[in-house]
Amino acid sequence: MHVPPKKPYDLSVNHAPKRKDILSRDQKKLAIANALRYFPSHQHTELAQDFLEELNTYGRIYMYRYRPDATICARPINEYPGKSEQAKAIMLMIQNNLDYAVAQHPHELITYGGNGAVFQNWIQYRLTMKYLAEMTDEQTLVMYSGHPMGLFPSHKNAPRVVVTNGMMIPNYSKPDDWEKFNALGVTQYGQMTAGSYMYIGPQGIVHGTTITVLNAVRKIAKNREDFKGKLFVTAGLGGMSGAQPKAGNIAGVISVTAEVNPKAAHMRHSQGWVDEIIENISELVDRVKRAQEGKEVVSVAYLGNVVEVWETFFESGVFVDIGSDQTSLHNPWAGGYYPVGLSFDEANKLMAEQPEEFKKHIQSSLKRHAEAINKHTERGTYFFDYGNAFLLESSRAGAEVMAPNGVDFKYPSYIQDILGPMCFDFGFGPFRWVCASGKPEDLKKTDEIACQVLEEMMEISPEEIQQQMADNIQWIKGAQENKLVVGSQARILYADAEGRMKIASAFNQAIAKGLIGPVILGRDHHDVSGTDSPYRETSNIYDGSKFTADMAIQNVIGDAFRGATWVSIHNGGGVGWGEVINGGFGMLLDGSEAADRNLRMMLHWDVNNGIARCNWARNENAIYAIKRAMEQEPNLRVTMPNLVDPETIQNLFN
Ligand SMILES: NC(=O)c1ccc[n+]([C@@H]2O[C@H](COP(=O)([O-])OP(=O)(O)OC[C@H]3O[C@@H](n4cnc5c(N)ncnc54)[C@H](O)[C@@H]3O)[C@@H](O)[C@H]2O)c1
Repeated sequence: MHVPPKKPYDLSVNHAPKRKDILSRDQKKLAIANALRYFPSHQHTELAQDFLEELNTYGRIYMYRYRPDATICARPINEYPGKSEQAKAIMLMIQNNLDYAVAQHPHELITYGGNGAVFQNWIQYRLTMKYLAEMTDEQTLVMYSGHPMGLFPSHKNAPRVVVTNGMMIPNYSKPDDWEKFNALGVTQYGQMTAGSYMYIGPQGIVHGTTITVLNAVRKIAKNREDFKGKLFVTAGLGGMSGAQPKAGNIAGVISVTAEVNPKAAHMRHSQGWVDEIIENISELVDRVKRAQEGKEVVSVAYLGNVVEVWETFFESGVFVDIGSDQTSLHNPWAGGYYPVGLSFDEANKLMAEQPEEFKKHIQSSLKRHAEAINKHTERGTYFFDYGNAFLLESSRAGAEVMAPNGVDFKYPSYIQDILGPMCFDFGFGPFRWVCASGKPEDLKKTDEIACQVLEEMMEISPEEIQQQMADNIQWIKGAQENKLVVGSQARILYADAEGRMKIASAFNQAIAKGLIGPVILGRDHHDVSGTDSPYRETSNIYDGSKFTADMAIQNVIGDAFRGATWVSIHNGGGVGWGEVINGGFGMLLDGSEAADRNLRMMLHWDVNNGIARCNWARNENAIYAIKRAMEQEPNLRVTMPNLVDPETIQNLFN
């Protein structure tokens, strides 16, 4: 391939921030040599200069000049070249993750979360697409953190692609290790669905956030009538956090979401995700009091720091029913959290010029932030951590957020209190599918099929899961109307193992009958079995095993030999590099008998693995759910925990 001309830096596109200039002189030489491995030696002189410039200017080598000129988006599956339908499905999903309408920093190949990469550079993208277009169903493509290692002989029922992202020797998994090894070009942060080609735009977040906010209100409200006039206070109108006001509206409460970045706030307002923007704090107090008196359902964005909101609401006697936070504290020092007392611009300047000073501001802001929340909770506010490492970073900053035992936090995470016991322990999680034909009418048909399956299931569902079934039927009924599709024709739906298998099997039959085109199944990694993350997904594991990652690793291995079309396993994702191991899968349904066999085997494992683990950790609802799963499937035999009377142990220490 000839060297394409350099491309101008396109300012109309949202770009990744300049990354830390972390490499030594010798390491920079290594990074350039690493990048040049993809090119013949006669091109090295020209490219070496270009790559050094990129490294010095952006902190990474993206190989911008290799970015294709053609539009990148999910095309109908039959428009992809190749010999393998499964490989074509993967190309479709890769292109969806890089679609400019979907991706956060498309030119840097970042799908979401600021650093969630599909590839490290554009040559990896090109090479991967080439391999996928050439491979057969007797080969497997091996992906090392965005780098296609190559095609290896395998067999029809093996995954077509195996993805690993950011897998490190544990001692080299600190945040700066990511900066360094990513700059060297040997690893990447795949987040969850970014590096595994399974992102479906904001729809997934809206659904998950709605379920969380709805169930948070249920914890404090007696009935639906009692929801009215309840106030939810939080922060963040960014990628995922931007769904909070929309979820607040769907749940039927008043929400106040603080956001320091005017661009983010105005974007969500213009998209209709938040109803009003207020810039003045006393105006905000008046507006909220009015909304409480009138029991309105309204979402208000406050353009300013969330610490001001908590402090002022306390002083002004505004009672907050529910509180949380979705600033990006998984990335505290590089723009994830803006300290109170500095303007947005001042903070950005200090962060770049005096990072140590900036760090001190954040730590004291977090102390103030937690102190104000503590005052509210003493008055009766229900506060939960939204999996953004708020409590973790606040505790590291010395804020008063620890429980009396000095080990646990004072407040629960949303998984401990809400998603864990109400959803994950029963196996309900973010199942999703993409209609590979690209036809909206196929999506509509799949919605109808899924709804019918759920309604039939609900008639005979036990009491314990009736609420979940009802919420999901309501979601799928409103899905078309809510117009949540961005990019591929995708749908998310929380379902348990039985629901996922029955829905997928019904899709496969519809494909076999020619009623719809092929369907790609997947899920968010933020699910019952896929993710070990002690401060988030597995924060409701209380047997001490939440710092292990056996479940996520077992899960991906088990999915791989039960017929997944592709599998992935990642370090990082949501809460930060070194803090989580998470995995996922993709599966093409083509209407065949093999697809039907695979979906039953793999989806059953993909959910019940996690339930079995929660059961072993003695989670009550998981014990119930795994017993039910064993009754339904005689080949499933799970080791059951014997519960011990706490007094028996206490007596030993008296
Ligand atoms: N929504 C979910 O389902 C979910 C689930 C788990 C975890 N999370 C976590 O939530 C966090 C947010 O995710 P995101 O994609 O929205 O990130 P993001 O960076 O796009 O958005 C965070 C927003 O918070 C704003 N902000 C930062 N400090 C602030 C402050 N002090 N006051 C007011 N606004 C402030 C930022 O300007 C930014 O717009 C992440 O840590 C993520 O892992 C979200």
